[in-house]
Amino acid sequence: MAVDLSQVSTVSTEPGELPATMAAWVIREERHGEPTDAFQLEEIEVPEPGAFEVIVRVMAAGVNFNNVWAALGEPVSVFGYGDHPQYGHHIGGSDASGVVWKVGEGVTRWKPGDEVVIHCNQASYEDPEVHGLDPLAAPSQKIWGYETTWGSFAQFTKVQAQQLLPKPAHLAWEEAASYGLTYFTAYRMLIDQVELQAGHKVLIWGAAGGLGVFATQLCALTGADCVGVVSSAEKGELVKQLGATGYIDRNEYAGMMRRGGETPDEEKARFKESRRFAKAVSGILGDAPDIVFEHVGQATFPTSVLTVKPFGKVVICGATSGYNLDFDVRYLWMRQKQIIGSHFANAWECTKANALIEQGKIRPVLWKTMGFEGVADAHQLLRDNKHLGKIAILVGASAEGEGRTVEGPGAIRAEVGA
Ligand SMILES: NC(=O)c1ccc[n+]([C@@H]2O[C@H](COP(=O)([O-])OP(=O)(O)OC[C@H]3O[C@@H](n4cnc5c(N)ncnc54)[C@H](OP(=O)(O)O)[C@@H]3O)[C@@H](O)[C@H]2O)c1
Repeated sequence: MAVDLSQVSTVSTEPGELPATMAAWVIREERHGEPTDAFQLEEIEVPEPGAFEVIVRVMAAGVNFNNVWAALGEPVSVFGYGDHPQYGHHIGGSDASGVVWKVGEGVTRWKPGDEVVIHCNQASYEDPEVHGLDPLAAPSQKIWGYETTWGSFAQFTKVQAQQLLPKPAHLAWEEAASYGLTYFTAYRMLIDQVELQAGHKVLIWGAAGGLGVFATQLCALTGADCVGVVSSAEKGELVKQLGATGYIDRNEYAGMMRRGGETPDEEKARFKESRRFAKAVSGILGDAPDIVFEHVGQATFPTSVLTVKPFGKVVICGATSGYNLDFDVRYLWMRQKQIIGSHFANAWECTKANALIEQGKIRPVLWKTMGFEGVADAHQLLRDNKHLGKIAILVGASAEGEGRTVEGPGAIRAEVGA
């Protein structure tokens, strides 16, 4: 049955009761490919909540790169794992704001009608790692709406109760849906993994991007000085507006980027450029950085290890330019530097980070809001690198600005970013 897009912002039931079906953007195994082909609108049965689960009516959803990979079926198809074999479809979307619609057995902290933001980490209650180590260490750990189905590109989503956070009242639905995945990741990296402190000096790659805008704000809030790396003066101005001490345009240091397979002479020239870059970083910060915030990977990692101060830390959560990293390890051991891997955040970290948004101390940075019809196109923009920042999707909300119940600083509207 064709989905009537004009009806997506209305539902036929009151909180506490679920309708039989919902509109959803669905990826299926047989149509892996470009996002505009892989994502199709379908009418799907609304799932019932299991024990400690909650069904949330999605008011707005946030777009992330993970569902470009889900569409492409690369580097692996999502259909081989998580709950995909059970349901046979993938409904993506790892960021959302919405209203609790129905709670499962055992849920006591939330009730139908509560307004929430959803964090994207799931793990089984039965794994012992959840109860003393960290849910990110659990064998069952999954990213909701990527490694699992029932994500946020649908009228309703199914989540674990521990994924719910209070929606900041001063944010519109689309603003509240835009920050979770990237902000909570940046929070764990800086606050917990490398224990960011006042007076620290920090180098942030991609400082105007999804992670970088929050890393920059966290440094400013903590009293740490940071320099952001960007690829244009406009992005540099955004980063300064967010609290960076200064910025470096990476186009001026194109020669430092590691491509792989360089000859010894090329490697020598690249190293010289990395040194020149490290000098520029120290020039802005007054000293070498204590911390390097990494997610670019192959192209920048040798420069990160070189640039960080002796005994300093490189914290990394991604590898946009390639995941096979090589670097001169002498600079690591002789200077006793550390490399720290990080992945998303646990519910406690998400709660602490969300409180800073509720207090208006950290603000979402939003580029564009699209209607529900825009889900496939939004992912194609990311796939084609034509996006300029974070994109939010209206689902239950019928217009931008809805959902704000008190005055306060909303999102920063970015003309640039990513
Ligand atoms: N493990 C996790 O939990 C987790 C969570 C979130 C994201 N990630 C990963 O982290 C990465 C970044 O995510 P994001 O949301 O921040 O993406 P994004 O919004 O696209 O921003 C990344 C920024 O990195 C810079 N960049 C890209 N290629 C570069 C290169 N070759 N050299 C130097 N800079 C480059 C770009 O900034 P300029 O062009 O301005 O320099 C870009 O704006 C992705 O690979 C993502 O999958 C991991």
